[in-house]
Amino acid sequence: MTDIDSLSAQALADITAASSPDALEALRVSLLGKNGSITSQLKALGALPGDQRKAAGEAINRVRDAISQALASRKTALDAAVLDARLTAEAIDVTLPGRSSERGGVHPVSRTMERMVEIFGRLGYDVAEGPEIEDDWHNFEALNFPPHHPARAMHDTFYFPGGRLLRTHTSGVQVRYMGEHKPPLRMIAAGKVYRSDSDQTHSPMFHQLEGLLVDEHSTFADLKGTITEFLRAFFERDFEMLFKPTYFPFVEPGADVVIKWDTEDGGSRWLEVLGCGMVHPNVLRAVGIDPERYTGFAFGMGVERLAMLRYGINDLRAFYENDVRFLKQFA
Ligand code: DAH
Repeated sequence: MTDIDSLSAQALADITAASSPDALEALRVSLLGKNGSITSQLKALGALPGDQRKAAGEAINRVRDAISQALASRKTALDAAVLDARLTAEAIDVTLPGRSSERGGVHPVSRTMERMVEIFGRLGYDVAEGPEIEDDWHNFEALNFPPHHPARAMHDTFYFPGGRLLRTHTSGVQVRYMGEHKPPLRMIAAGKVYRSDSDQTHSPMFHQLEGLLVDEHSTFADLKGTITEFLRAFFERDFEMLFKPTYFPFVEPGADVVIKWDTEDGGSRWLEVLGCGMVHPNVLRAVGIDPERYTGFAFGMGVERLAMLRYGINDLRAFYENDVRFLKQFA
């Protein structure tokens, strides 16, 4: 009887001290399991003399019930503690401010292109598109660059096997547009062009805007007026401008437009901003337009170049590095 009482006292103390559901379960097995200490006591009853068996049996049963009850209430407490700990650990503070997502902006090159398109839109120009992977005919041949013509060498072309190429300028879109539309016509095309060239002022990919007008009586004076109007609208100011004769295979006469640009030191210098000219009769012939009846003018300009002037950016590469500190300024 002393044995069972001390066993009981120890068991109850151990149960109170059990610090986790697992420890409590191990304790339960060691007390009430098949080979548990209480279970062995019950098994040992048979060996007692008959007159002691009843009292001893009652005592062991009482102890067993007390232990069962203690195990059950300790288990409830430990399970609740585990749940509490988990709820605390996984708690979400719904009052915390959310992570804000930053708003992006239109890239300065796209923004400049949109601005150019908008200005020509006001002048009645239709917006056209052409493929960046072009064929030799549209990029060169129909534009009056015969095979092996030295002017092709100025273009640093990326070629694909099989004769296709990455367009070196947007002028090929003129050819495509004239193939699909009858004059009188007016179109602009803006997009990516590619040349194997890379330094502070050249990138292997850059953007151009092309323009073309074909009509019965278009003249170089119309071209001059259009370009002057565009440059004034684009830069929102007036400046001296020169049309300097130059050579492009697809125009005759051809000109580089230079503008007098004020420099930071209070001086000025002449800057080339675009190429233009009267559409060469061979180009009109290539697309089945009668050069005796129609004349046209065309122009092409670098979008990055104009964006750099407008925003005062001096390194072309800033456009392609995607540094948000740079891009943010245009948002
Ligand atoms: N395609 C020329 C270039 O990439 C630019 C150009 C010059 C386009 C004269 C024209 C033009 O339409 O008439 O350098």
